[in-house]
Amino acid sequence: MKRSLGARTVAYPLPVFLVGTYDSNRKPDVMAAAWGGICSSEPPSIAVSIRPSRYTHRNLLEKQAFTISIPSIAQMAEADFFGMVPGSDTDKFAKTGFTPVRAEHVDAPYVGECPVVLECRVINTVEIGSHTQFIGEILDVKCDESVLGADGKPDLALMKAIGYDPVRSDYFITGAVVGKAFTQGNKYRK
Ligand SMILES: Cc1cc2nc3c(=O)[nH]c(=O)nc-3n(C[C@H](O)[C@H](O)[C@H](O)COP(=O)(O)O)c2cc1C
Repeated sequence: MKRSLGARTVAYPLPVFLVGTYDSNRKPDVMAAAWGGICSSEPPSIAVSIRPSRYTHRNLLEKQAFTISIPSIAQMAEADFFGMVPGSDTDKFAKTGFTPVRAEHVDAPYVGECPVVLECRVINTVEIGSHTQFIGEILDVKCDESVLGADGKPDLALMKAIGYDPVRSDYFITGAVVGKAFTQGNKYRK
């Protein structure tokens, strides 16, 4: 028996993305965004939905560039803080001591302490009710060597990326591998 929870913003798992932008004075800003995900393979693209009230929104419209830093559990408190205070009146990097690193391919900063970073240029925007969806072409992905497995690929168990539960407002850890994609379903293919 299923119980209706009504029309709500529920999906699992949700990411914790840290969206990095520069403002017009080149002050680096970063905010937490859980409303986002990969949205195209060619070109490789990712979408984040940002409320117009965010400082990030203004920066995105002006610079048409952003980064996504993916935090691990070690950066949880800072990531949470980045989602709690507006960049308009706070230098969040200075406040946390985290390092704004200028991206290589776009005019935006990323969080040096995060293990995985995406560099993106805005290729489209879509107005959706309360949020603007910014679609970014991923120009590069950077990964700390410490989270690469022996096969040279990012390893979630090493990364310990945090996810977000929008109903309980909890952070949770990702990492346990439970099966191989495009393989588990083979038993039904005949
Ligand atoms: C876990 C988490 C997820 C969030 N996801 C979003 C989101 O997807 N879109 C959004 O507009 N705000 C989101 N927020 C709120 C912004 O991060 C917050 O308003 C932030 O202070 C905006 O920073 P800025 O003014 O520097 O842009 C989220 C906050 C948290 C803590």
